Amino acid sequence: MNSFRLIATFLCCIAVVFGVLPLCSNAQLDPAFYSKTCPNLNSIVREIVRNFTKIEPRMPAILIRLHFHDCFVQGCDASILLNNTATIVSELQALPNINSIRGLQVVNRIKTDVEKACPNTVSCADILALAARISSVLSKGPGWIVPLGRRDSLTANRTLANQNLPAPFFNLSQLKSSFAAQGLNTVDLVALSGAHTFGRARCSLFVDRLYNFSNTGEPDPTLDTTYLKQLQNECPQNGPGNNRVNFDPTTPDTLDKNFYNNLQVKKGLLQSDQELFSTPNADTTSIVNNFANNQSAFFESFKKAMIKMGNIGVLTGKKGEIRKQCNFVNKKSSELDLAALVSTESFDGDMVSSI
Ligand code: HEM
Repeated sequence: MNSFRLIATFLCCIAVVFGVLPLCSNAQLDPAFYSKTCPNLNSIVREIVRNFTKIEPRMPAILIRLHFHDCFVQGCDASILLNNTATIVSELQALPNINSIRGLQVVNRIKTDVEKACPNTVSCADILALAARISSVLSKGPGWIVPLGRRDSLTANRTLANQNLPAPFFNLSQLKSSFAAQGLNTVDLVALSGAHTFGRARCSLFVDRLYNFSNTGEPDPTLDTTYLKQLQNECPQNGPGNNRVNFDPTTPDTLDKNFYNNLQVKKGLLQSDQELFSTPNADTTSIVNNFANNQSAFFESFKKAMIKMGNIGVLTGKKGEIRKQCNFVNKKSSELDLAALVSTESFDGDMVSSI
């Protein structure tokens, strides 16, 4: 061991002794974390996600996004799942989440079945990470080994959700800073944006590109004209902003490299997507080209970036807790009638209402 590592290890040991481990921030997750305590965990998660996907093909996209929106706000700690209470200001009402986040009833259903099989053992944060991986595989995307052992937060942070989650009108440098703030680099940014190869987005989030881009009174010049007409059809000017449009017009429910091929022909749905390819002299253009030509390269980078994202700010050991019900911290949920809480989500007409 060289002297630098020796000193670093020594300092970390001191930090552990004095209880300031977060400064070392090298909490260890382990793919075998539940192998003895909840051996059927993977199959429980897989079966429930699979069943919901049969009814709502968009479900895998919804669940991958849920993990992303969890991890970018005080780490992957299931803080996004917490409802408003006297002590919690829910992240679900933050701008990037409101009327947008779905899939909570699926997570609750998984949690209920997991609690039956292995009570008080598996965190909601780990369920989100596992559901994201299974969602990728069910959509013909790559699988990866999910490091486990996250614990659930005792808090949520709406302000941080508004601050940390990137917006669809971000330019490339804003996107890069948003990801860098989470320890993710430019390749991670391009690879993770590839999740916009499936799922839908509401018209209101990109309609300015179709009619009045940056207050020019003209459409965004980086939009293909045929695609522009198609989008104008789906999203009429002053029409209902809540109409949903496929991210990928070619294979809307498959996790594949088409997102990058779409960017090459100016068919990125969000401004933030197209920025990755169309920003002049950007280092991201060649990464897009590489992924567009080589699905294995995309999959390899996507897997790495998903694992990296899943490690952000995790709580381990004695930090946080294993929630009994994902929408409430334990202290609160013990005071409430759990049965009445199982489905607290409001749905759009296009969503499954129950299973
Ligand atoms: C790079 C910055 C990103 C921006 C600006 C962004 C923005 C958005 C927006 C505005 C929507 C539509 C929401 C709605 O219609 O209510 C969306 C949907 C989606 N995002 Fe992102 N996102 C980004 C990165 C990511 C990442 C890193 C992932 C996952 C790894 C992801 C996965 C998804 C998925 C799968 C959907 C579709 C969800 C559905 O059908 O409900 N996004 N994103």
